[in-house]
Parts: sequence; C-alpha cells; structure tokens
Amino acid sequence: MLRRWQWAVVLVLAVGALAAGCSEPAPAKSEPAPAAPASSHSFKVVGPSRQIMLAITIPASETVFNAAAEPPTTDEQWVSVERAALTLAESGNLLLIPGRAVDQGEWLRFSQMLIDTAGQAYEAAQAKDIDGVSEAGNTIYEACEGCHKKYLPQPAAP
Ligand code: HEC
Repeated sequence: MLRRWQWAVVLVLAVGALAAGCSEPAPAKSEPAPAAPASSHSFKVVGPSRQIMLAITIPASETVFNAAAEPPTTDEQWVSVERAALTLAESGNLLLIPGRAVDQGEWLRFSQMLIDTAGQAYEAAQAKDIDGVSEAGNTIYEACEGCHKKYLPQPAAP
C-alpha cells in the first residue's frame, strides 16, 4: 500500500505526464535574440589609437613605471599602482578591438605583450611585490617600443 507522500509523488508525476501529453506543439514563436557574439558588432571604436595612448595607456604606464623608481609605501599607493597596471593591461585589449586592430600579426603580438606584462605588474602590485612590478615594467616597455618601431613613422635618418 502506498503511503500518503508516495501518492502525492504519483499524482504529481501523472499530472506532469498529462500536461506534457496534451500540450499542443508550441507554435514557432520568435526566440529572443541570443546574446551578441564577440564580433565586431559588440564593439564601437570611439577614438583612434593615438587617443587611447594619450587618455589611457600613457598615464597608466607612468604610474607603473614611477612605482619602480619610487616604491609605494601606503596601502593607498599600492592600490593606485594596482589599478594603473590593470588599466594598462586592459588598454592592450582596447588596441585589439575590431576596427582598431591594424593587423593580426605584429600588432596583435605587441598588444598581447602589453596585456601580459601589465597583467604581471597587476599581480605583483596585488602582492605588494615591488621587484615584480619593476621587472614587469621593463617588459612592458619592450611592448611599447616594439609596437612603435613597427607602426609609428620613424624619423628619417640624418
Ligand atoms: C600595439 C601597438 C602599440 C603599443 C603596444 C603601444 N603603443 Fe603607443 N602608440 C601606438 C600608436 C599607433 C600611436 C599613434 C600613432 C599616431 O597616430 O601618431 C602611439 C603613440 C604613442 C605616443 C605618442 C603620443 C602623441 O603625442 O602623439 C606615446 C607617448 C606612446 N604611444 C606611448 C606608449 C607607451 C608608454 C606604451 C606602452 C606602455 C605604448 N605606447 C604601447 C601604438 C602602440
């Protein structure tokens, strides 16, 4: 003999089966649009790379480079180095958005180098590791230099 709770389960299952069996095939209603894939439609270039440099990359890099010369002493100063390193790393992503990325070769490589090296500075700053920040600073600088050598007009040889 089924106990009361077991009957309840049977009833729920039966009703469920009934509902499933009776339901009409759902009319083809329009599905909500899926979230936009990470394609060019998700991004909008607002300013040229030079403005990204001036507004984001350069000021953030100055804070990170200066930290190596003048190590942070307070928590507040560490937090500002940490945030600057994060900003700097993310500025590498901004250089890669469709419409701004110049190519998928060296441009991609130096942008990724900026993301990775500034990401290391970010982690080092979180750990309040000044040697880590300054080591990362050197490799960050190589990313800046590498990209500029390749993509900025070089002064004519004298
Ligand atoms: C992936 C390429 C790339 C990387 C990486 C990069 N830059 Fe640039 N940078 C550019 C481009 C492109 C310009 C602007 C060229 C133009 O239109 O005049 C520029 C311009 C500059 C300028 C000149 C701004 C002016 O007044 O015209 C400075 C300074 C600069 N970048 C600093 C940096 C620093 C510091 C880093 C590293 C932390 C860095 N850049 C990393 C591509 C890059």
